[in-house]
Amino acid sequence: MPKKRTRKKPLPETPVKVTIESLAHDGRGVAHVEGKVIFIDEALPGEEVEFIYTDIRKDYAEGKVVNLLSRSEDRVDAQCAHYGLCGGCSFQHVEATAQIRIKQELLVDQFKRIGKVDVPELLPPLIGPHWGYRRKARMGVKYVAKKNRVLVGFRERRHPYLAEIDSCVVMHPIVGSQLTALGDMISELTIRDKIPQIEVAIGEDQCVLSFRVLEPPTDADQELMRAFGHQHNMSLCLQSKGPDTIVPLDGEPEIIPSYALPDLGIEFKFRPAMFTQVNYEINRQMITRVIDLLALNADDNVLDLFCGLGNFTLPMAKFAGTVVGIEGDQPLVNHAKENALHNNINNAEFYAADLSKDISDHPWAQRKYNKILLDPSRAGASDVLHYFKKWQPDLVVYVSCNPSTLARDTGIMVNELGYQLIKAGVMDMFPQTGHVESMAVFKRTK
Ligand SMILES: C[S@@+](CC[C@H](N)C(=O)[O-])C[C@H]1O[C@@H](n2cnc3c(N)ncnc32)[C@H](O)[C@@H]1O
Repeated sequence: MPKKRTRKKPLPETPVKVTIESLAHDGRGVAHVEGKVIFIDEALPGEEVEFIYTDIRKDYAEGKVVNLLSRSEDRVDAQCAHYGLCGGCSFQHVEATAQIRIKQELLVDQFKRIGKVDVPELLPPLIGPHWGYRRKARMGVKYVAKKNRVLVGFRERRHPYLAEIDSCVVMHPIVGSQLTALGDMISELTIRDKIPQIEVAIGEDQCVLSFRVLEPPTDADQELMRAFGHQHNMSLCLQSKGPDTIVPLDGEPEIIPSYALPDLGIEFKFRPAMFTQVNYEINRQMITRVIDLLALNADDNVLDLFCGLGNFTLPMAKFAGTVVGIEGDQPLVNHAKENALHNNINNAEFYAADLSKDISDHPWAQRKYNKILLDPSRAGASDVLHYFKKWQPDLVVYVSCNPSTLARDTGIMVNELGYQLIKAGVMDMFPQTGHVESMAVFKRTK
Protein backbone atom coordinates (compact mmCIF):
# COMPACT_ATOMS: atom_id res chain seq x y z
CA MET A 1 0.00 0.00 0.00
CA PRO A 2 1.50 3.44 -0.88
CA LYS A 3 2.67 5.41 2.16
CA LYS A 4 0.17 8.03 3.29
CA ARG A 5 1.65 11.46 3.55
CA THR A 6 0.31 14.83 4.42
CA ARG A 7 0.71 17.23 1.54
CA LYS A 8 1.67 20.71 2.64
CA LYS A 9 0.84 22.53 -0.56
CA PRO A 10 -2.14 21.71 -2.81
CA LEU A 11 -1.14 20.47 -6.27
CA PRO A 12 -1.19 23.09 -9.06
CA GLU A 13 -4.35 22.65 -11.13
CA THR A 14 -3.26 24.36 -14.34
CA PRO A 15 -2.25 21.91 -17.09
CA VAL A 16 1.41 22.06 -18.12
CA LYS A 17 2.62 21.52 -21.70
CA VAL A 18 5.63 19.21 -22.27
CA THR A 19 7.16 16.94 -24.91
CA ILE A 20 7.76 13.38 -23.74
CA GLU A 21 11.46 12.52 -23.98
CA SER A 22 11.59 8.80 -23.20
CA LEU A 23 9.93 5.98 -21.31
CA ALA A 24 10.65 5.04 -17.71
CA HIS A 25 11.15 1.33 -16.91
CA ASP A 26 7.52 1.08 -15.79
CA GLY A 27 6.24 2.42 -19.12
CA ARG A 28 5.41 5.97 -18.01
CA GLY A 29 6.46 8.88 -20.19
CA VAL A 30 9.39 10.95 -18.94
CA ALA A 31 9.57 14.73 -19.31
CA HIS A 32 11.26 17.58 -17.45
CA VAL A 33 9.81 20.79 -16.10
CA GLU A 34 12.29 23.33 -14.75
CA GLY A 35 14.88 20.58 -14.38
CA LYS A 36 12.61 18.25 -12.41
CA VAL A 37 11.79 14.85 -13.86
CA ILE A 38 8.07 14.12 -14.31
CA PHE A 39 6.66 10.62 -14.82
CA ILE A 40 3.45 10.89 -16.83
CA ASP A 41 0.93 8.05 -17.14
CA GLU A 42 0.11 6.86 -20.66
CA ALA A 43 2.37 9.33 -22.45
CA LEU A 44 4.66 8.15 -25.26
CA PRO A 45 8.04 9.45 -26.46
CA GLY A 46 7.73 12.29 -28.98
CA GLU A 47 4.20 13.19 -27.94
CA GLU A 48 3.34 16.72 -26.96
CA VAL A 49 0.89 16.64 -24.05
CA GLU A 50 -0.74 18.79 -21.45
CA PHE A 51 -0.62 17.09 -18.07
CA ILE A 52 -1.70 17.86 -14.54
CA TYR A 53 0.32 16.93 -11.50
CA THR A 54 -0.88 13.98 -9.45
CA ASP A 55 2.03 14.11 -7.00
CA ILE A 56 5.05 16.28 -6.37
CA ARG A 57 8.04 14.99 -4.43
CA LYS A 58 11.44 16.50 -3.69
CA ASP A 59 13.26 14.73 -6.55
CA TYR A 60 10.49 13.96 -9.02
CA ALA A 61 6.83 14.51 -9.79
CA GLU A 62 4.02 12.43 -11.31
CA GLY A 63 1.26 13.45 -13.64
CA LYS A 64 -1.49 12.34 -15.98
CA VAL A 65 -2.33 13.52 -19.47
CA VAL A 66 -5.35 15.80 -19.78
CA ASN A 67 -4.81 16.82 -23.39
CA LEU A 68 -2.95 14.92 -26.07
CA LEU A 69 -1.58 17.56 -28.47
CA SER A 70 0.26 15.18 -30.81
CA ARG A 71 -0.08 11.43 -31.17
CA SER A 72 2.74 8.88 -31.37
CA GLU A 73 2.54 6.32 -34.19
CA ASP A 74 2.74 3.69 -31.46
CA ARG A 75 -0.48 4.86 -29.79
CA VAL A 76 -3.73 2.89 -30.06
CA ASP A 77 -7.04 3.20 -28.26
CA ALA A 78 -7.23 0.97 -25.20
CA GLN A 79 -9.58 -2.00 -25.59
CA CYS A 80 -10.76 -2.10 -22.02
CA ALA A 81 -13.29 0.43 -20.71
CA HIS A 82 -11.56 0.33 -17.31
CA TYR A 83 -8.11 1.17 -18.65
CA GLY A 84 -6.51 3.94 -16.62
CA LEU A 85 -8.58 3.12 -13.54
CA CYS A 86 -7.67 -0.55 -13.06
CA GLY A 87 -4.07 -1.15 -12.06
CA GLY A 88 -3.87 -4.49 -13.89
CA CYS A 89 -2.65 -3.00 -17.21
CA SER A 90 -0.42 -0.09 -18.13
CA PHE A 91 0.39 -0.68 -21.83
CA GLN A 92 -2.99 -0.91 -23.54
CA HIS A 93 -2.43 2.49 -25.17
CA VAL A 94 0.58 1.06 -27.02
CA GLU A 95 0.25 -0.97 -30.23
CA ALA A 96 1.16 -4.65 -29.69
CA THR A 97 4.41 -4.80 -31.71
CA ALA A 98 5.51 -1.47 -30.20
CA GLN A 99 4.94 -2.89 -26.70
CA ILE A 100 7.42 -5.67 -27.28
CA ARG A 101 9.87 -3.35 -29.08
CA ILE A 102 9.74 -0.98 -26.08
CA LYS A 103 10.33 -3.89 -23.68
CA GLN A 104 13.30 -5.00 -25.77
CA GLU A 105 14.77 -1.47 -25.71
CA LEU A 106 14.27 -1.38 -21.97
CA LEU A 107 16.06 -4.71 -21.54
CA VAL A 108 19.05 -3.56 -23.61
CA ASP A 109 19.16 -0.29 -21.66
CA GLN A 110 19.11 -2.10 -18.28
CA PHE A 111 21.95 -4.40 -19.38
CA LYS A 112 23.99 -1.34 -20.30
CA ARG A 113 23.15 0.89 -17.33
CA ILE A 114 22.97 -1.65 -14.49
CA GLY A 115 25.08 -4.56 -15.73
CA LYS A 116 27.56 -2.45 -17.78
CA VAL A 117 27.22 -5.06 -20.52
CA ASP A 118 26.24 -4.76 -24.19
CA VAL A 119 23.94 -7.34 -25.78
CA PRO A 120 25.88 -8.83 -28.73
CA GLU A 121 22.87 -10.52 -30.33
CA LEU A 122 19.15 -10.10 -29.80
CA LEU A 123 16.97 -13.20 -29.79
CA PRO A 124 13.77 -12.67 -31.81
CA PRO A 125 10.94 -11.86 -29.40
CA LEU A 126 8.55 -14.70 -28.53
CA ILE A 127 5.03 -13.60 -29.41
CA GLY A 128 1.69 -15.10 -28.39
CA PRO A 129 -1.91 -13.99 -27.81
CA HIS A 130 -2.33 -10.33 -26.85
CA TRP A 131 -5.61 -10.79 -24.98
CA GLY A 132 -7.26 -13.40 -22.75
CA TYR A 133 -3.94 -15.09 -21.98
CA ARG A 134 -3.74 -14.84 -18.20
CA ARG A 135 -4.53 -18.10 -16.41
CA LYS A 136 -3.28 -17.37 -12.90
CA ALA A 137 -4.35 -14.41 -10.78
CA ARG A 138 -5.18 -13.35 -7.27
CA MET A 139 -8.29 -11.21 -7.52
CA GLY A 140 -9.45 -8.93 -4.73
CA VAL A 141 -13.05 -9.07 -3.48
CA LYS A 142 -14.81 -6.23 -1.68
CA TYR A 143 -18.39 -5.88 -0.43
CA VAL A 144 -19.42 -2.24 -0.84
CA ALA A 145 -22.28 -1.86 1.65
CA LYS A 146 -23.41 1.53 0.32
CA LYS A 147 -24.01 0.09 -3.14
CA ASN A 148 -24.92 -3.39 -1.88
CA ARG A 149 -22.49 -4.64 -4.50
CA VAL A 150 -19.50 -6.91 -4.48
CA LEU A 151 -16.47 -5.86 -6.54
CA VAL A 152 -14.20 -8.55 -7.92
CA GLY A 153 -10.95 -7.75 -9.69
CA PHE A 154 -7.76 -5.77 -9.31
CA ARG A 155 -6.63 -2.68 -7.44
CA GLU A 156 -6.80 0.78 -8.92
CA ARG A 157 -3.63 2.10 -10.49
CA ARG A 158 -1.37 3.28 -7.64
CA HIS A 159 -4.25 3.05 -5.12
CA PRO A 160 -5.10 0.36 -2.58
CA TYR A 161 -8.82 0.33 -3.49
CA LEU A 162 -10.40 -2.31 -5.71
CA ALA A 163 -11.29 -0.94 -9.12
CA GLU A 164 -14.94 -1.13 -10.14
CA ILE A 165 -14.64 -3.35 -13.22
CA ASP A 166 -17.11 -5.71 -14.86
CA SER A 167 -14.69 -7.68 -17.04
CA CYS A 168 -11.00 -8.19 -17.71
CA VAL A 169 -9.77 -8.64 -21.28
CA VAL A 170 -6.35 -9.86 -20.23
CA MET A 171 -7.65 -12.74 -18.10
CA HIS A 172 -8.72 -15.93 -19.79
CA PRO A 173 -12.36 -15.25 -20.82
CA ILE A 174 -13.77 -18.14 -18.76
CA VAL A 175 -13.16 -15.87 -15.74
CA GLY A 176 -12.44 -12.49 -17.35
CA SER A 177 -15.95 -12.23 -18.82
CA GLN A 178 -17.71 -13.29 -15.61
CA LEU A 179 -16.56 -10.76 -13.02
CA THR A 180 -19.99 -9.13 -12.66
CA ALA A 181 -21.73 -12.51 -12.40
CA LEU A 182 -19.16 -13.58 -9.81
CA GLY A 183 -19.68 -10.39 -7.77
CA ASP A 184 -23.48 -10.75 -8.02
CA MET A 185 -23.31 -14.33 -6.76
CA ILE A 186 -21.04 -13.35 -3.85
CA SER A 187 -23.39 -10.48 -2.92
CA GLU A 188 -26.09 -13.15 -2.26
CA LEU A 189 -23.92 -14.99 0.28
CA THR A 190 -24.23 -14.43 4.03
CA ILE A 191 -20.41 -14.22 4.13
CA ARG A 192 -20.20 -11.64 1.32
CA ASP A 193 -18.05 -9.35 3.51
CA LYS A 194 -15.84 -12.22 4.70
CA ILE A 195 -14.20 -13.06 1.37
CA PRO A 196 -11.11 -10.90 0.78
CA GLN A 197 -9.74 -12.63 -2.31
CA ILE A 198 -10.10 -15.35 -4.91
CA GLU A 199 -7.17 -17.35 -6.24
CA VAL A 200 -7.74 -18.11 -9.94
CA ALA A 201 -6.10 -21.16 -11.53
CA ILE A 202 -7.14 -21.97 -15.08
CA GLY A 203 -5.65 -25.14 -16.46
CA GLU A 204 -5.96 -26.45 -19.99
CA ASP A 205 -9.50 -27.78 -19.36
CA GLN A 206 -10.17 -26.83 -15.75
CA CYS A 207 -10.99 -23.61 -13.96
CA VAL A 208 -10.56 -23.56 -10.19
CA LEU A 209 -11.56 -20.54 -8.09
CA SER A 210 -10.39 -20.74 -4.48
CA PHE A 211 -12.33 -18.37 -2.24
CA ARG A 212 -10.40 -17.19 0.83
CA VAL A 213 -13.07 -17.29 3.52
CA LEU A 214 -12.69 -15.64 6.93
CA GLU A 215 -15.85 -17.44 8.13
CA PRO A 216 -17.26 -20.77 6.92
CA PRO A 217 -20.12 -20.43 4.42
CA THR A 218 -23.58 -21.65 5.42
CA ASP A 219 -25.21 -24.60 3.64
CA ALA A 220 -27.27 -22.11 1.62
CA ASP A 221 -24.09 -20.20 0.67
CA GLN A 222 -22.49 -23.44 -0.48
CA GLU A 223 -25.56 -24.24 -2.55
CA LEU A 224 -25.35 -20.86 -4.32
CA MET A 225 -21.65 -21.33 -4.97
CA ARG A 226 -22.12 -24.89 -6.26
CA ALA A 227 -24.85 -23.76 -8.66
CA PHE A 228 -22.63 -20.92 -9.94
CA GLY A 229 -19.74 -23.31 -10.48
CA HIS A 230 -21.91 -25.78 -12.41
CA GLN A 231 -23.42 -23.00 -14.54
CA HIS A 232 -20.04 -21.49 -15.47
CA ASN A 233 -17.98 -24.65 -15.68
CA MET A 234 -15.78 -23.66 -12.76
CA SER A 235 -14.74 -25.62 -9.69
CA LEU A 236 -15.26 -23.45 -6.61
CA CYS A 237 -13.11 -24.18 -3.56
CA LEU A 238 -12.81 -22.76 -0.05
CA GLN A 239 -9.58 -21.62 1.56
CA SER A 240 -9.89 -21.11 5.32
CA LYS A 241 -6.21 -20.29 6.03
CA GLY A 242 -2.98 -20.87 4.07
CA PRO A 243 -2.77 -22.32 0.52
CA ASP A 244 -2.71 -25.92 1.81
CA THR A 245 -6.21 -25.46 3.31
CA ILE A 246 -7.89 -25.21 -0.13
CA VAL A 247 -10.74 -27.78 -0.34
CA PRO A 248 -13.64 -28.24 -2.77
CA LEU A 249 -17.17 -27.28 -1.71
CA ASP A 250 -19.03 -30.05 0.19
CA GLY A 251 -19.89 -32.92 -2.10
CA GLU A 252 -17.86 -31.59 -5.05
CA PRO A 253 -14.96 -33.58 -6.53
CA GLU A 254 -11.42 -32.23 -6.24
CA ILE A 255 -10.38 -30.85 -9.61
CA ILE A 256 -6.63 -30.87 -10.28
CA PRO A 257 -5.71 -28.27 -12.92
CA SER A 258 -3.14 -29.26 -15.52
CA TYR A 259 -1.32 -28.00 -18.59
CA ALA A 260 0.40 -29.92 -21.31
CA LEU A 261 3.38 -29.70 -23.65
CA PRO A 262 1.92 -31.82 -26.48
CA ASP A 263 5.10 -31.83 -28.61
CA LEU A 264 7.03 -33.36 -25.72
CA GLY A 265 4.24 -35.59 -24.43
CA ILE A 266 4.38 -33.98 -20.97
CA GLU A 267 1.49 -33.03 -18.70
CA PHE A 268 1.88 -31.01 -15.51
CA LYS A 269 -0.62 -31.20 -12.69
CA PHE A 270 -0.67 -28.43 -10.11
CA ARG A 271 -2.56 -27.18 -7.07
CA PRO A 272 -4.51 -23.94 -7.45
CA ALA A 273 -2.22 -21.75 -5.33
CA MET A 274 1.07 -23.07 -6.79
CA PHE A 275 3.29 -20.99 -9.03
CA THR A 276 2.77 -21.72 -12.72
CA GLN A 277 3.59 -19.56 -15.73
CA VAL A 278 0.50 -17.44 -16.52
CA ASN A 279 0.63 -17.56 -20.34
CA TYR A 280 0.63 -21.11 -21.73
CA GLU A 281 1.42 -20.24 -25.35
CA ILE A 282 4.52 -18.25 -24.40
CA ASN A 283 5.49 -20.87 -21.83
CA ARG A 284 5.52 -23.57 -24.52
CA GLN A 285 7.64 -21.42 -26.84
CA MET A 286 9.95 -20.47 -23.97
CA ILE A 287 10.59 -24.13 -23.07
CA THR A 288 11.35 -24.99 -26.71
CA ARG A 289 13.77 -22.08 -26.89
CA VAL A 290 15.55 -23.08 -23.66
CA ILE A 291 16.04 -26.61 -24.98
CA ASP A 292 17.41 -25.23 -28.27
CA LEU A 293 19.74 -22.71 -26.64
CA LEU A 294 21.16 -25.27 -24.23
CA ALA A 295 21.66 -27.71 -27.14
CA LEU A 296 20.93 -30.57 -24.74
CA ASN A 297 22.28 -34.07 -25.29
CA ALA A 298 22.61 -37.33 -23.34
CA ASP A 299 26.03 -36.35 -21.89
CA ASP A 300 24.65 -33.27 -20.15
CA ASN A 301 24.27 -32.90 -16.38
CA VAL A 302 21.93 -29.98 -16.03
CA LEU A 303 21.04 -27.94 -12.96
CA ASP A 304 17.66 -26.19 -12.97
CA LEU A 305 17.63 -23.54 -10.24
CA PHE A 306 14.29 -22.12 -9.02
CA CYS A 307 12.59 -25.02 -10.78
CA GLY A 308 9.04 -24.71 -9.37
CA LEU A 309 7.00 -27.78 -10.26
CA GLY A 310 9.51 -28.85 -12.93
CA ASN A 311 8.23 -26.67 -15.80
CA PHE A 312 11.69 -26.69 -17.45
CA THR A 313 13.21 -29.65 -15.58
CA LEU A 314 10.98 -32.34 -17.07
CA PRO A 315 11.20 -31.09 -20.68
CA MET A 316 15.00 -30.81 -20.34
CA ALA A 317 15.14 -34.35 -18.92
CA LYS A 318 13.75 -35.62 -22.24
CA PHE A 319 17.03 -34.56 -23.91
CA ALA A 320 19.74 -34.46 -21.20
CA GLY A 321 21.53 -37.23 -19.28
CA THR A 322 20.37 -35.98 -15.85
CA VAL A 323 18.61 -32.87 -14.63
CA VAL A 324 18.60 -31.73 -11.01
CA GLY A 325 15.84 -29.28 -10.07
CA ILE A 326 16.16 -27.06 -6.98
CA GLU A 327 13.26 -25.15 -5.48
CA GLY A 328 12.65 -23.35 -2.17
CA ASP A 329 9.01 -24.30 -1.72
CA GLN A 330 8.68 -27.89 -0.42
CA PRO A 331 5.11 -28.46 -1.76
CA LEU A 332 6.37 -27.48 -5.23
CA VAL A 333 9.29 -29.91 -4.89
CA ASN A 334 6.87 -32.70 -3.91
CA HIS A 335 4.70 -31.83 -6.86
CA ALA A 336 7.66 -31.79 -9.24
CA LYS A 337 8.51 -35.34 -8.12
CA GLU A 338 4.90 -36.41 -8.66
CA ASN A 339 4.93 -34.81 -12.10
CA ALA A 340 8.12 -36.72 -12.97
CA LEU A 341 6.40 -40.00 -11.97
CA HIS A 342 3.21 -39.02 -13.80
CA ASN A 343 5.24 -38.51 -17.00
CA ASN A 344 7.49 -41.57 -16.56
CA ILE A 345 10.60 -39.40 -16.39
CA ASN A 346 13.29 -41.00 -14.24
CA ASN A 347 16.41 -38.92 -14.95
CA ALA A 348 15.15 -35.84 -13.07
CA GLU A 349 15.85 -35.32 -9.37
CA PHE A 350 14.32 -32.63 -7.19
CA TYR A 351 15.57 -31.11 -3.93
CA ALA A 352 14.34 -28.34 -1.66
CA ALA A 353 16.79 -25.55 -0.81
CA ASP A 354 16.74 -21.85 -0.09
CA LEU A 355 18.99 -20.48 -2.81
CA SER A 356 19.52 -17.21 -0.97
CA LYS A 357 21.35 -19.09 1.82
CA ASP A 358 24.56 -21.12 2.15
CA ILE A 359 23.89 -24.30 0.15
CA SER A 360 27.40 -25.74 0.16
CA ASP A 361 26.46 -28.66 2.47
CA HIS A 362 23.78 -30.02 0.12
CA PRO A 363 25.08 -33.16 -1.68
CA TRP A 364 23.57 -31.93 -4.97
CA ALA A 365 25.58 -28.69 -4.63
CA GLN A 366 28.83 -30.69 -4.46
CA ARG A 367 28.34 -32.18 -7.93
CA LYS A 368 29.41 -30.68 -11.26
CA TYR A 369 26.97 -29.41 -13.90
CA ASN A 370 27.93 -28.48 -17.44
CA LYS A 371 24.72 -26.58 -18.17
CA ILE A 372 22.52 -24.48 -15.90
CA LEU A 373 19.09 -23.00 -16.33
CA LEU A 374 17.88 -20.47 -13.78
CA ASP A 375 14.49 -18.83 -13.50
CA PRO A 376 14.36 -16.86 -10.25
CA SER A 377 11.58 -14.65 -8.93
CA ARG A 378 11.84 -10.85 -9.21
CA ALA A 379 14.63 -10.63 -6.59
CA GLY A 380 17.02 -12.36 -9.00
CA ALA A 381 19.72 -14.89 -8.22
CA SER A 382 22.78 -12.97 -7.01
CA ASP A 383 23.24 -15.14 -3.87
CA VAL A 384 23.57 -18.39 -5.79
CA LEU A 385 25.81 -17.10 -8.60
CA HIS A 386 29.13 -17.51 -6.80
CA TYR A 387 28.54 -21.29 -6.72
CA PHE A 388 29.05 -21.19 -10.48
CA LYS A 389 32.81 -21.09 -9.71
CA LYS A 390 32.44 -24.57 -8.27
CA TRP A 391 29.90 -25.99 -10.72
CA GLN A 392 31.68 -24.46 -13.74
CA PRO A 393 28.81 -24.70 -16.24
CA ASP A 394 29.90 -24.05 -19.83
CA LEU A 395 26.50 -22.75 -20.82
CA VAL A 396 23.91 -20.87 -18.77
CA VAL A 397 20.40 -19.76 -19.70
CA TYR A 398 18.82 -17.23 -17.36
CA VAL A 399 15.04 -16.66 -17.58
CA SER A 400 13.90 -13.52 -15.81
CA CYS A 401 10.74 -11.61 -14.93
CA ASN A 402 12.69 -8.54 -13.83
CA PRO A 403 15.17 -6.90 -16.26
CA SER A 404 16.88 -4.88 -13.53
CA THR A 405 17.88 -7.92 -11.42
CA LEU A 406 18.78 -9.81 -14.61
CA ALA A 407 21.03 -6.91 -15.60
CA ARG A 408 22.59 -6.79 -12.11
CA ASP A 409 23.23 -10.56 -12.16
CA THR A 410 24.58 -10.32 -15.70
CA GLY A 411 27.12 -7.79 -14.40
CA ILE A 412 28.23 -10.39 -11.81
CA MET A 413 28.36 -13.21 -14.40
CA VAL A 414 30.37 -11.16 -16.87
CA ASN A 415 32.51 -8.92 -14.69
CA GLU A 416 33.23 -11.29 -11.78
CA LEU A 417 32.67 -14.89 -12.87
CA GLY A 418 34.24 -15.03 -16.32
CA TYR A 419 31.11 -15.49 -18.45
CA GLN A 420 30.27 -13.81 -21.70
CA LEU A 421 26.75 -12.68 -22.50
CA ILE A 422 26.07 -14.07 -25.97
CA LYS A 423 22.37 -13.45 -26.60
CA ALA A 424 19.33 -12.00 -24.90
CA GLY A 425 15.73 -11.30 -25.80
CA VAL A 426 12.22 -10.65 -24.58
CA MET A 427 9.07 -12.77 -24.49
CA ASP A 428 5.54 -11.40 -24.64
CA MET A 429 4.45 -13.22 -21.49
CA PHE A 430 2.45 -10.28 -20.10
CA PRO A 431 1.00 -8.20 -22.99
CA GLN A 432 -0.79 -4.94 -22.04
CA THR A 433 1.16 -4.76 -18.77
CA GLY A 434 4.53 -3.25 -17.93
CA HIS A 435 5.97 -6.64 -16.93
CA VAL A 436 8.97 -7.76 -18.96
CA GLU A 437 9.89 -11.44 -19.30
CA SER A 438 13.29 -12.05 -20.83
CA MET A 439 16.03 -14.58 -21.39
CA ALA A 440 19.82 -14.32 -21.51
CA VAL A 441 22.43 -16.86 -22.63
CA PHE A 442 25.97 -16.99 -21.21
CA LYS A 443 29.09 -18.90 -22.22
CA ARG A 444 32.03 -19.59 -19.90
CA THR A 445 35.24 -17.98 -21.10
CA LYS A 446 37.62 -18.85 -18.22
C1 LIG B 1 9.61 -17.48 -11.58
S1 LIG B 1 9.27 -18.90 -10.64
C2 LIG B 1 9.84 -20.13 -11.75
C3 LIG B 1 9.39 -21.52 -11.47
C4 LIG B 1 9.61 -22.52 -12.61
N1 LIG B 1 10.92 -22.41 -13.20
C5 LIG B 1 8.53 -22.43 -13.67
O1 LIG B 1 8.86 -22.11 -14.82
O2 LIG B 1 7.37 -22.67 -13.35
C6 LIG B 1 10.49 -18.77 -9.42
C7 LIG B 1 10.55 -19.91 -8.43
O3 LIG B 1 11.61 -19.64 -7.50
C8 LIG B 1 11.23 -20.08 -6.23
N2 LIG B 1 12.05 -19.33 -5.25
C9 LIG B 1 11.94 -18.03 -4.90
N3 LIG B 1 12.88 -17.71 -4.01
C10 LIG B 1 13.61 -18.82 -3.79
C11 LIG B 1 14.74 -19.11 -2.97
N4 LIG B 1 15.29 -18.19 -2.18
N5 LIG B 1 15.24 -20.36 -3.01
C12 LIG B 1 14.70 -21.30 -3.81
N6 LIG B 1 13.64 -21.09 -4.60
C13 LIG B 1 13.09 -19.87 -4.59
C14 LIG B 1 9.74 -19.80 -6.15
O4 LIG B 1 9.12 -20.63 -5.19
C15 LIG B 1 9.30 -20.11 -7.60
O5 LIG B 1 8.89 -21.44 -7.71
